[in-house]
Amino acid sequence: MVSKGPLLRLLTAINRRRMKLLMGFAFVAYVASVWGNFVNMRSLQENGDQKVESRIEEAVAPLREKIKDLEKSFTQKYPPVKFLSEKDRKRILITGGAGFVGSHLTDKLMMDGHEVTVVDNFFTGRKRNVEHWIGHENFELINHDVVEPLYIEVDQIYHLASPASPPNYMYNPIKTLKTNTIGTLNMLGLAKRVGARLLLASTSEVYGDPEVHPQNEDYWGHVNPIGPRACYDEGKRVAETMCYAYMKQEGVEVRVARIFNTFGPRMHMNDGRVVSNFILQALQGEPLTVYGSGTQTRAFQYVSDLVNGLVALMNSNVSSPVNLGNPEEHTILEFAQLIKKLVGSGSEIQFLSEAQDDPQKRKPDIRKAKLLLGWEPVVPLEEGLNKAIHYFRKELEYQANNQYIPKPKPARMKKGRTRHN
Ligand SMILES: NC(=O)c1ccc[n+]([C@@H]2O[C@H](COP(=O)([O-])OP(=O)(O)OC[C@H]3O[C@@H](n4cnc5c(N)ncnc54)[C@H](O)[C@@H]3O)[C@@H](O)[C@H]2O)c1
Repeated sequence: MVSKGPLLRLLTAINRRRMKLLMGFAFVAYVASVWGNFVNMRSLQENGDQKVESRIEEAVAPLREKIKDLEKSFTQKYPPVKFLSEKDRKRILITGGAGFVGSHLTDKLMMDGHEVTVVDNFFTGRKRNVEHWIGHENFELINHDVVEPLYIEVDQIYHLASPASPPNYMYNPIKTLKTNTIGTLNMLGLAKRVGARLLLASTSEVYGDPEVHPQNEDYWGHVNPIGPRACYDEGKRVAETMCYAYMKQEGVEVRVARIFNTFGPRMHMNDGRVVSNFILQALQGEPLTVYGSGTQTRAFQYVSDLVNGLVALMNSNVSSPVNLGNPEEHTILEFAQLIKKLVGSGSEIQFLSEAQDDPQKRKPDIRKAKLLLGWEPVVPLEEGLNKAIHYFRKELEYQANNQYIPKPKPARMKKGRTRHN
C-alpha cells in the first residue's frame, strides 16, 4: 500500500484549490448568466410593454375623438337665436338649404327664431354648411331629393333646390331639368296641400342673352331652348310658369325671386365663375385669367344682401317676379386688380383671347325691389370680397390637409368657347 507522502498531499491541496477556483468561476458564471437572463427578460418585457401600450393607444385614440365629439355636442354653443312666440314662429322649409345661398338663409331664419327644415340631396350642398345647427331644437336636416314627393307640415317654403353654376347644372342636364320641373311641381303640390306660401329661387338667366340693358322684370328674355344652358334657363322658366299656374288654378301663394350673380363664403370653389376663379388663382399664385380686354362689366351681390331680399320678398304681398341683384357694375379687369390687391398676391394678370359670346354688360334693374320691398344691397364690394377671400383661404388649408386642391375650371363653356360668368 502506498502511503500518502508529502508530495501527494501537496497535489491534493493544489487540486482542492483548483476545484474551489473552478467552482468559484462556475458560480460567478452562473450568477452572470442568471443576471443576463434577468436583464434580457426585463428589456423584452419593457419592449413588450411598449408595444402593448402603443397598441392600446392606437385602439383608444378614435374612442377619445368620439368622446370629444360627444362632449362637444353636449356643450355645443349655437349662434344666438331670438325667442319668438308660438304665434310669430313659422315652420319653414328650405329646399337646397345645405347649398351656398340656402345655408345663409338657414342661418338668418334660425337666428330670427323660426323652425327650419332643410331638405337637400347634397348634390352640390354640404352638411358642413349647416352643421353648426345640428342638434338645435328648431332645426332639422332631411336628406331628400325634391324629385320625390315630400309630406311635411310647413308654413313657408323657400324652394332653392337646383344646381346653380354652369359646370354643376351641365353635369347632368336631364337631372337639372327634373329638379327644376318635377321638383318644383312636388313643392307646389306640398304648398297646396298644407296651405304654405312658396318662394321660387329663379334666376337672371331667364333673360338669356338679353337684348335690353339693364333687364327689368317685364323683359321676356332671349333664351336658346336647345343650347347647353337650356336645361337650367328653360328649367327655371318653366318653374316660374308652374308657380303662376298653381297660383291661378289652385290659389297657392307664390313669390318669384330672379336672382343675379351672388358671391360670398360657402360658394363653390370650382364653379368656374369669375369671382371664385380670380380669388383661387390669386391665393395659389397663379395668373388671373382675363378673356379679352377685360372691359366687359359684371355686377355681383354679397350673399347677406340676397338673403335679406329673399326674406323681404317672402313676407311681402308682391306675387309677381322681382329682380334681386347688385346694380353696381365693375369691369372684369377692375375685379382682377382689386382681388389681386386684397389677397396681396404677386400673380400676374393674363389676357387670353376674347370669347365670342361673352356679354359686354350684365346689370340688374332693381327699381321694383327698391319700391315694393324697400330693399337694396348694402354690403360694399371690398368688404364682401374680403369675407370671401378669408373663406377661400381657410378652405384651401382644409382641402390641402385632405389632399385635394381644386383648380379653377375655365369659365362657362358655350359652343366650346370660354366666357366670364
Ligand atoms: N348663386 C347664385 O349666384 C345664383 C344666381 C341665380 C339663381 N340662383 C338660384 O339660387 C338657388 C341656390 O343656388 P346656390 O348658389 O346656393 O347653389 P348651390 O348649388 O350651392 O345650392 C343648391 C342646393 O340644392 C341642392 N339640390 C340640388 N338638386 C337637388 C334635388 N334634386 N333635391 C334636393 N336638393 C337638391 C344642392 O345639393 C345644393 O345644396 C338655386 O336655385 C339657383 O338656381 C343662385
